[in-house]
Amino acid sequence: MLLAIETSCDDTCAAVLDGPRILGNVISSQAAAHAGFGGVVPEVAARHHLELVEPVIAAALAEAGVTLDEVEAVAATAGPGLIGALLVGISAAKGVAAARRLPFIPVDHLQGHVAANFLEPEPLEPPFLCLIASGGHTLLAGVRDHEGYELLGQTLDDAAGEAFDKSARLLGLGYPGGPAVQREAEGGDPEAFEMPVAMSRNPGLDFSFSGLKTAVLYRCRELGPEGVEARRADLAASFQAAVVEQLRAKLKRALKKGEWEAVALGGGVAANGPLREAVGQLCEEMGVRLKLVPIALCTDNAAMIGAAARYVEPIPYPDYLGYDAFASGEAKAAVPH
Ligand code: KG4
Ligand code: ZN
Repeated sequence: MLLAIETSCDDTCAAVLDGPRILGNVISSQAAAHAGFGGVVPEVAARHHLELVEPVIAAALAEAGVTLDEVEAVAATAGPGLIGALLVGISAAKGVAAARRLPFIPVDHLQGHVAANFLEPEPLEPPFLCLIASGGHTLLAGVRDHEGYELLGQTLDDAAGEAFDKSARLLGLGYPGGPAVQREAEGGDPEAFEMPVAMSRNPGLDFSFSGLKTAVLYRCRELGPEGVEARRADLAASFQAAVVEQLRAKLKRALKKGEWEAVALGGGVAANGPLREAVGQLCEEMGVRLKLVPIALCTDNAAMIGAAARYVEPIPYPDYLGYDAFASGEAKAAVPH
């Protein structure tokens, strides 16, 4: 039995897993605490994690119907993410593990998004192509085994979710921006405004979203507050269509070589309905299998961290006591003593 903890951003998450099976999976969103600021405030996030991490772990254990005595290892997201937020999760995990002399397993957050696909029911086995689009990252991962992935392309500026969040703010919609923009776009015309689909002539697999956010800013300036009010749904729909089209086009380019037989989506933006639809159509067109994990496993959660942890070498007690979180970059290979 594995206990997994995820606190890299603004969700406090804990899960209990038996192999690839989720027994308990609890997510306490702090969205309301950050809504007034229009985005995640790192210091506020860390303080909330501190208050929530213990009750969230208790809730995950209760949901699973197990006690700490049955837990054999404790995993936590080591990075990348907000350093103060990560430290709360890592410290909690190390504390629980050390008290029982259990091993500790540090997990890379992005590998967690990939590993969400390894969970029951209907786990997806590598090889597959995985598009991860979240608030902090947008990348195409070539997944050939359970341990890691090849970075095939990534955003050169903003992440797709960041573009949703920033555009939502410009449109006077709430935080988090993704779900708010999707809801608003339902009543709008995606062709009402011309929005740039960046990187379409770029032969690589990288992404760019900052120009799109600027385009929304200019349209808002041209329209003025009353104009934005009147055309909000059209603006949201046009913006969303441009994001979806860029993601779809890059995925298509990656699939064209015929190397991949399955596609998976991960990250918070993978919860987006029109994106799911567009990628579904693309996969049908290209004759590849599409794996869509439930939305609760697309956005940040600890079950995916537990799924990735199964393929990471556990660190025995007490070697992990000095293990540190990392804000960005690769997972640390060496354990500091
Ligand atoms: O993976 P995630 O939960 O956290 C990060 O690691 O960033 O992703 C959060 C991001 C936010 O930017 C949010 O606006 C976006 O995912 N998101 C969506 C939707 N739901 C969440 N974007 C578009 N459409 C959605 N339905
Ligand atoms: Zn994430």
